[in-house]
Amino acid sequence: MKSKASAPGKVILFGEHFVVYGVKTILCAINKRITVTAEKIEENKIYIKSNIGNLVLEPNKIISEINSPLKPFYYLANKMSKDQNTGIKIEIESDIPLGVGLGSSSACCVAGAAAISRLFKNTSNEEILELAIEAEKTIFENTSGADCTVCTYGGIMIYDKENGFNKIESEPNFHLVIANSNIEHSTKTVVANVKQFKEKDEKTFSILCDKESQLVDDVLKLLKENDIKELGNKINKNQEYLETIGISNEKLRNMIKIGQNEAFGAKITGAGGGGCIFALTDETNLEQTMEKFKSENYDCFSVKIDFQGLDTF
Ligand code: MEV
Repeated sequence: MKSKASAPGKVILFGEHFVVYGVKTILCAINKRITVTAEKIEENKIYIKSNIGNLVLEPNKIISEINSPLKPFYYLANKMSKDQNTGIKIEIESDIPLGVGLGSSSACCVAGAAAISRLFKNTSNEEILELAIEAEKTIFENTSGADCTVCTYGGIMIYDKENGFNKIESEPNFHLVIANSNIEHSTKTVVANVKQFKEKDEKTFSILCDKESQLVDDVLKLLKENDIKELGNKINKNQEYLETIGISNEKLRNMIKIGQNEAFGAKITGAGGGGCIFALTDETNLEQTMEKFKSENYDCFSVKIDFQGLDTF
């Protein structure tokens, strides 16, 4: 018996880092997906195959002792197959670049939770999300769960630590050009550096949090009005705040300059320090923005919002 599921990646549009200190963030799912196929097998083992490597283990290993980025899949397979007298084979295919802030690990957890759990029962999206967050915590203990939520339900949403998630019921028709710095980054390290910045200058950080909060409120209105030019200006403003807290570097600044010149606006997405930036475009400036990034030898591709979220088949 086989079960298959796919889930989209994500982009943080506004509010990364400040969200850690209680400010609202706006994020959306993107039309790049991870697909997971799970299959029951007679041999009592868990096989995981992916383009970043393979993992083969007996059931019931101690999760914290497993040193592999594929650990969330093992966690899910082990949990679901307990007392079921079966092994599981899992295959992962991805069209999301891995580890660059585009939600590849959350999409893996959501598609993995759906494909694996549905070998055993007809799990609801709520149950799948809960399993996905549990699985993500095996690699990033302090996850807010925002990424898994947007990967499950798709669309655009607003999230803050106190009030959780709310879908934004608008369907803006923009394209995002994602450019990859190909600089590896560790979210944990960059978040720790921002904490140091905050502790050195509480006053500046608090002013920035207030400004970001105001920005997010303004953006909510602009999204409803589909005012892409003004949204671009807000994206540039958000980038200024991210520069101030020290998560940018020369390469990212160069990429952002291209995006801001060619498109409506551009900023880092995710932790920064490396990873990706995005530029906001529509049909009128999508091609020219892509061309410019390519002519300066940056890896880039365009995405749209994914409104579907998790898909099982
Ligand atoms: C990373 O994608 C987003 C951060 O805000 C960290 C977090 O929210 O946990 C930098």
